Parts: sequence; C-alpha cells; structure tokens
Amino acid sequence: MMKVAVVNLKGGSGKTVSSFHLATAFAARGRTLLADCDEQGSSLSWASAVEEDGGEVGFSVMGLPVKDVNRRIRDFEADYEYVVMDTPPGDYMVARSALMAADVAVLVVPPTPIDLDRVMPTLELIADVEDMTGLTYYVLLTRVRRISREGQDTRGAMAEMELPLLEAEIPLLGRYSDSFGQPIRDLGEYERVARELLGEREEVVR
Ligand SMILES: Nc1ncnc2c1ncn2[C@@H]1O[C@H](COP(=O)(O)OP(=O)(O)OP(=O)(O)O)[C@@H](O)[C@H]1O
Ligand SMILES: [Mg+2]
Repeated sequence: MMKVAVVNLKGGSGKTVSSFHLATAFAARGRTLLADCDEQGSSLSWASAVEEDGGEVGFSVMGLPVKDVNRRIRDFEADYEYVVMDTPPGDYMVARSALMAADVAVLVVPPTPIDLDRVMPTLELIADVEDMTGLTYYVLLTRVRRISREGQDTRGAMAEMELPLLEAEIPLLGRYSDSFGQPIRDLGEYERVARELLGEREEVVR
C-alpha cells in the first residue's frame, strides 16, 4: 500500500498530468485510486471524458476536495494498493491534508525562473509535514524544454540545495498536454518516474 501526493501550491506546474499518468502506471501493478483533491476537478473531468468515449482509465477516480483528506481517505485505502492524490494550487489546507495522508510526496516543478521563485512555500509545507509524519518526498522536473539549459541549470541548483531530485524528468511535449481527456496508452517518461518511485530497477542493457 503506497499513497502518493502530487503537489505544488503554484498553479499549472503539471500536477494533474503527472497524477493521471502515475495512476495509470500504478494501475498496471495493482488496484489504484486517483483521489482528485482539487475542487476544479480536472482529474475527474479527464476520467469522465474517457468514459464518455466508451474507454476505461484502469483505476478508480474519486473527488476529495476536502481539508481532511488524511482522515477521509482511511475509508477507502484498504481497497487499494496504490493511491494517488492530485492536489489543488493555492488551497494550503487541502494540500496539507493530502500530504498528511501520503507516504510519498512528488513535488512537480517546471524549471522556469518564475516557477523556481515560487517553490519555497511548497518546500516549507512539505518540510513541516515531513517532521510530523515521516513523509518521503522527491522533486520531479516537469515541462522541461529540451532546447533550453533550464533543466540542467535547475538540476545543478537543486543538487546544491540537496533537494531529492528524481533522475527521470518530463519533457515539455504536445503528447503530454494533448493527453487530457484520453486514456493513456503510452506513459512516456512517466514509466521511469513510476519505477524510480517504486524502487524498481531499470533493466540494464549490456
Ligand atoms: N510535460 C508537459 N508537456 C507539455 N505540456 C504539459 C506538460 N505537463 C503539463 N502540461 C500542460 O501544462 C498545463 C498545466 O498542467 P496541469 O494541468 O497538469 O498542471 P496543474 O499543476 O495540475 O495545474 P493546476 O494547478 O491548475 O491544477 C496544462 O495545459 C497541461 O496540459
Ligand atoms: Mg491540476
């Protein structure tokens, strides 16, 4: 049983796209719940769009935009091997309660100056919860522009700050933004993210 909260208090950082892909990756391994803790309900809409087209997402999706996610999730977690929580921007108390519920937090950050400037409040919130619950967290670079040095530079800066950066990162590509409303057939780089989070080894080709 593993509960993963995907967080960043700043909007538009890739929480929903990451949550939906990770839920898809986990669903290939065991029963999975995606809890949409954002009242905007993007993950719920995504799943509805898939089902309206007669498709299946492969996991359960539930709206849980509440300030006591940690308490409310207890009623459901026994039925699942993996729980992914998509969290809202701005709503500190909801994000905090999702982190309180989580074993693992994934802080998704696009490596742009404006996103980096605003990452501190979320890092502080995570540190706060880490002290209370023993939460483990990782930073995942998302929306990384391949033609730019931003990703590399951010890796360097984050390594100096001793932030726990995942090796895998998500490039800025139309395939990820276009995935909304569709079932995910190809996880792209999220497959590597899932393996890193689950501590699965990459196959080494000799
Ligand atoms: N790797 C990517 N490549 C290209 N576009 C992406 C990528 N990841 C996310 N996007 C796009 O960036 C925008 C923000 O992504 P997303 O909705 O996942 O962020 P969010 O953090 O959930 O936003 P909010 O805080 O509003 O809930 C969306 O338009 C999405 O399609
Ligand atoms: Mg979202």
